[in-house]
Amino acid sequence: MKICCIGAGYVGGPTMAMIAEKCPNIEVCVVDINQERIDAWNSEKLPIYEPGLDALVAKSRGKNLFFSTEVDQNIKESEIIFISVNTPTKEYGSGLGQAADLRFVESCARRISEISEDNKIIVEKSTVPVRTAEMVQSILKSTSKGLHHQVVSNPEFLAEGTAVQDLLCPDRVLIGGEDSTEGNVAVGKIAEIYAKWVSKDRIITTNLWSSELSKLTANAFLAQRISSINAISALCEETEANVDEVAAAIGADSRIGSKFLKSSIGFGGSCFQKDILNLCYLCRYFRLPEVAKYWEQVIVINEYQKERFVTRILDSMYNTVSAKKIAILGFAFKKDTNDARESPAIGICKRLLEEKAELAIYDPQVPKESVLSSMGLTEDTAESIVFCETAPEACCHSHCILILTEWEEFRNLDYESIYKKMKKPAIFFDGRNLLDLNELRSIGFIAKGIGKA
Ligand code: NAD
Ligand code: UGA
Repeated sequence: MKICCIGAGYVGGPTMAMIAEKCPNIEVCVVDINQERIDAWNSEKLPIYEPGLDALVAKSRGKNLFFSTEVDQNIKESEIIFISVNTPTKEYGSGLGQAADLRFVESCARRISEISEDNKIIVEKSTVPVRTAEMVQSILKSTSKGLHHQVVSNPEFLAEGTAVQDLLCPDRVLIGGEDSTEGNVAVGKIAEIYAKWVSKDRIITTNLWSSELSKLTANAFLAQRISSINAISALCEETEANVDEVAAAIGADSRIGSKFLKSSIGFGGSCFQKDILNLCYLCRYFRLPEVAKYWEQVIVINEYQKERFVTRILDSMYNTVSAKKIAILGFAFKKDTNDARESPAIGICKRLLEEKAELAIYDPQVPKESVLSSMGLTEDTAESIVFCETAPEACCHSHCILILTEWEEFRNLDYESIYKKMKKPAIFFDGRNLLDLNELRSIGFIAKGIGKA
């Protein structure tokens, strides 16, 4: 059997590498229109930093795992085609700033429809609004070749930084299909692939629309927990309650659970915000404004949390950071990824630049080019930023250190000697609940970070 995946991104690459490893008799080809990305997948330096991914790719690449820009040829030869392209928030026209931009999904459907010479199973791997499969089906039916393709929804739940582990041991695999004999056969074929390494009780099958909507709902619920604990962190700061203690106390209740209760400078990443906006757009489209307003609050609190962090920095630095050097440790939206999409660091750095701060940025994996482009800057317009090779270099002579990503290496820095080389009074913000706070307090330079007593 041959399968192909359109979209060699954070989802397409790792997911197909896992399928190739677990199903050696399936030929897997990941295709993309981005030549540079495909070249990187075929090189020693993969386009994505993800623990365990290099080894996983190395096991199958060139054997039954291939990366190519030959989109048409691979569509033609494959029995199953995964669509794993980006579905960003629309930046134009109707639905601007809320709806999902489905033009990449649509163009894949058109290409499959034009190129195919036999019946295919088309798998929606991208996160899409509920009822997108209807649009895909109607495009596929529009060419009168007498072919009958099946559309299946199989959303991805991996998180960046733990993608390989999440793919290896998923909490569940969700597969939605058309309620018909052909639909059931198609769902069965996709389930069979996963059953090679995922136990059957973790493979959930539903109708198409439940599957599509479950993905948006899962992300909305996860983000909602973060906004809930972040909202409580604001109250903790006023009342001397400790948000970590509150999180531990409520998380001990098995009905609440302990995960995703870490107060932070706000959630980032390419999906939470866009998926909630998309959910809100759908609710308004289906004339459910109360439901839309409910979920919008998750984003409102997230913005509030980021701004509160900046306000705290300014407050503790005599209300001015002008010409002060601020060390930024971490720019990725979370540890163990080189992804800076929608990272909270973007807004925080932009606000500090508006306040005329000098930034010294260090991240172990995010390249300088990504930092600049995410802030809409170029080398020429970034004269107040220096990029550093190490954390101590960024911190040297700084007035303030902000830890914006919880990279493990920031736990083990020699803060005593870093402190000695800082301007006094030195301020230190741990936005991500990263360090042993007592240790930092004992050497006398921790300021109140968000949610800290
Ligand atoms: P990405 O931007 O990293 O990758 C998408 C790739 O698709 C790009 O390389 C792009 O060049 C390619 N592409 C776009 N149109 C194409 C076309 N017509 N033909 C060939 N290639 C095309 O995106 P991603 O982070 O992998 O996310 C993909 C989807 O998966 C999104 O819908 C996202 O919401 C969802 N998702 C992402 C994650 C995550 O952790 N990043 C997790 C679960 C679900
Ligand atoms: C998230 C979901 O966890 C995945 O299940 C989903 O597949 C994916 O989105 C997607 O659809 O793209 P991801 O964004 O990669 O995965 O990473 P998370 O671990 O969810 O973290 C997201 C953000 O929330 C990060 O900025 C992180 O620092 C923040 N976060 C997370 C908190 O602030 N507190 C927490 O307790 C947990």
